[in-house]
Amino acid sequence: MRVRRCHQLVVELDQAPRFSFASLLEGGDGMDSSVRWLAYAPQLAAAEPVTLEQLAVLQAASRDDWVELAELRERHDAAIVDSLLAVGLLLAEHGDKQAAWRARDETARDIAWWPLALVAHAHGGWGEVDIQARNERGLMMSSEQMVEAFGAAPEPAYRRAPAAAPLPLAAPLASDFDALLAARRTCRNFDGEAVLGQAEFATMMRRVWGAVGTRELAPGAVAVKKNSPAGGGLHAVEAYVLVQRVEGLAPGIYHYLSMDHALEPMRRLSADEAAGLAHRFVAGQDWFNNAPVMVVMTARFDRLFWKYRRHTKAWRVVHLDVGHLSQTMYLSATDLGLGCFVTAAISDRAVEEALDLPALREGPIAIVGFGLRSGEMRTMELDQLVPVQPAHLAPSV
Ligand SMILES: Cc1cc2nc3c(=O)[nH]c(=O)nc-3n(C[C@H](O)[C@H](O)[C@H](O)COP(=O)(O)O)c2cc1C
Repeated sequence: MRVRRCHQLVVELDQAPRFSFASLLEGGDGMDSSVRWLAYAPQLAAAEPVTLEQLAVLQAASRDDWVELAELRERHDAAIVDSLLAVGLLLAEHGDKQAAWRARDETARDIAWWPLALVAHAHGGWGEVDIQARNERGLMMSSEQMVEAFGAAPEPAYRRAPAAAPLPLAAPLASDFDALLAARRTCRNFDGEAVLGQAEFATMMRRVWGAVGTRELAPGAVAVKKNSPAGGGLHAVEAYVLVQRVEGLAPGIYHYLSMDHALEPMRRLSADEAAGLAHRFVAGQDWFNNAPVMVVMTARFDRLFWKYRRHTKAWRVVHLDVGHLSQTMYLSATDLGLGCFVTAAISDRAVEEALDLPALREGPIAIVGFGLRSGEMRTMELDQLVPVQPAHLAPSV
């Protein structure tokens, strides 16, 4: 059997307190704060504690060439070599046991990821998080509890040159656009019965995710234009629609074809299955469950890093792209009189599985939703505000 080291590996010197049964048995406080090395690699589901001896073997092992395992076991402590193979830091050339690790490692080799972004993406996602369940168990902190635990939040009014007198700016011009901006709000109270009209749905999709033009920069390199800006003209963001209640569309998962303004049906769902997935997708934020449509925005890292090879800013760029699409979505929904939301608190693993996303090649970044508002306000929205009225802009009497 031949083996090689995984392609990417980042180690952290960790001293975060962690639960320890041994400490409890010894009459301690149940916490272990000893220092340890943690290995983060894109093929692993979780960081792996490693010793300096294991790191030394990894350093000596080839990253790119397959070498005989027997040879490695002869040159180093065989038990250490075996332990690295068991946790997926050394990879075997063949065999089912390591197939998933090997496939992810191959993708890491294939795409010119910036290593720290790769590791952050691979390890930063959530498994199954259920915020509703955590709320019901009293595990979510209220604002009062946060202030009590951490002190007051840093002030929203932020001065950098407090010794200088501020220069008052002129009154802003006013247009219809201001009314649209003023009406924009994150909706946490959707009508759980209302069906979203086909025209509204189609308008949202076209305005926000539809391609409005392309331009061939070179054979094999096409820049795309949408109603939002995107880093490098790449538009490496895809839109997947989870439909619960849209006129003329069966509940299910669809992929939006931005060039064709059409939907690719991916998976038909019963109404209950669609509702269950919606709850899981937004990590159990039950105030979003009733949205008749959710759109998962994923990043296509292969397209992104095709241009921005090992670029330190590319990962940031694609998150910004999603933010721009989200704001266009907010403005379009507001214009149509619909409620809408965006959330980055998503159960990444549930989304990846439901959409069958190719790991490390494409990954979920955020979810938005839109639909008719409920008449009833059960969950807080920022609708009642103390107006910010700079003194020099106050209307004169
Ligand atoms: C990147 C991003 C992530 C957000 N995530 C959540 C979320 O997880 N849950 C939620 O209820 N609202 C979420 N929001 C909505 C914000 O809480 C909301 O924008 C903020 O409270 C201000 O309210 P407004 O949008 O009505 O002005 C998010 C907003 C942004 C921009």
